[in-house]
Amino acid sequence: MAKIKRALITGITGQDGSYLAEFLLDMGYEVIGMIRRSSTVNFERIKHIQDKVTLVSGDLFDEVSLIHILREYRPNEVYNLAAQSFVQTSWSQPVFTGEVTALGVTRILDAIRIVDPDIRFYQASSSEMFGKVVEVPQKETTPFYPRSPYGVAKVYGHWITVNYRESYDMFACSGILFNHESERRGLEFVTRKISHGVARIKLGLDKELRLGNLEAQRDWGFAGDYVKAMWMMLNQDQPSDYVIATGKTHSVRRFCELAFDHVGLDYRDYVVQDERFMRPAEVDLLIGDATKARTTLGWHPETSFEELVARMVESDLRLLKQAQHL
Ligand code: NAP
Ligand code: GDD
Repeated sequence: MAKIKRALITGITGQDGSYLAEFLLDMGYEVIGMIRRSSTVNFERIKHIQDKVTLVSGDLFDEVSLIHILREYRPNEVYNLAAQSFVQTSWSQPVFTGEVTALGVTRILDAIRIVDPDIRFYQASSSEMFGKVVEVPQKETTPFYPRSPYGVAKVYGHWITVNYRESYDMFACSGILFNHESERRGLEFVTRKISHGVARIKLGLDKELRLGNLEAQRDWGFAGDYVKAMWMMLNQDQPSDYVIATGKTHSVRRFCELAFDHVGLDYRDYVVQDERFMRPAEVDLLIGDATKARTTLGWHPETSFEELVARMVESDLRLLKQAQHL
């Protein structure tokens, strides 16, 4: 009988962590999720699978906690999804962001090196590393030019992953994922802010939606499609780095247009531009070339941009109606 594989996910309470845990459970894995101690529990995204996963306490700030978890559970694969992931916050908390999003990667890689360097490792790298893009579309060989403390921290996380692979012959992969969204996205990210705002306006709970730069363009995919690529990377013969993207880009304005349109409204009547949401340095355009992932992994996105917008608006309408007993 085949041995059941065990995976450790850091960041299991986040958007991607919840989808990846579902995916790995479906694949027959035993899933260990690392959660950080807080005064209130935050299991909203994983409550439907909470009895199927093992939750353990640890923190990317604390290498000892990581070593203990690895020693106790001996996973075959580690998916490092934990991070301070909100770009805007990285300007107000640059040191904290560097500690978690950059040095946190070294802590977990080093814990793996100490406990068992045969454990396979996935690092959640980001298209934010391309920043002020020097090539269109962006692929694995495109040079990085990060535009935020978050982007800078992710560049560190990417290179330390490559470095541990080359220094210690570890099976370490960096997935350079372009923006991916869902109804589980945090409310501060622009897509969820829009879908939630649209639903509130449609139900008469708000009169306007205040946003920053409407012209920024992103390559937006569906998070559920992207977590599969993480697993595919760790189940190849050789470790490598891959861009994961749809190859299509849309502006924030276009997202607004479609989302309001979905409920029969015109975004121009409700969206107000607000300086508070503009960034000190912007990433104007991201569009990825995922040819390597398609040809090597056999990965391709399954959800279109239009489907993504519709599913997010529908979900927020449903959630708000439930909360309002409508
Ligand atoms: P998310 O929803 O913000 O989730 C982040 C997770 O990290 C949460 O579970 C959070 O725990 C955990 N965390 C934060 N600090 C931690 C610490 N010190 N120790 C342990 N856990 C900690 O992010 P996401 O959208 O799922 O993204 C997952 C990863 O992919 C992140 O590394 C992100 O930077 C990267 N990424 C995301 C995208 C995207 O478009 N979503 C694209 C490229 C790369 P709490 O619940 O306790 O806060
Ligand atoms: N959050 C937010 N709020 N963004 C806004 C707003 C607003 O009110 N108005 C306009 N935007 C613009 C931002 O300036 C940015 O250009 C774009 O919308 C997307 O912003 P976010 O949704 O916050 O995502 P992000 O692209 O900065 O970062 C996300 O994607 C990265 C991958 O490229 C995060 O998930 C990162 O963790 C991830 O690495």
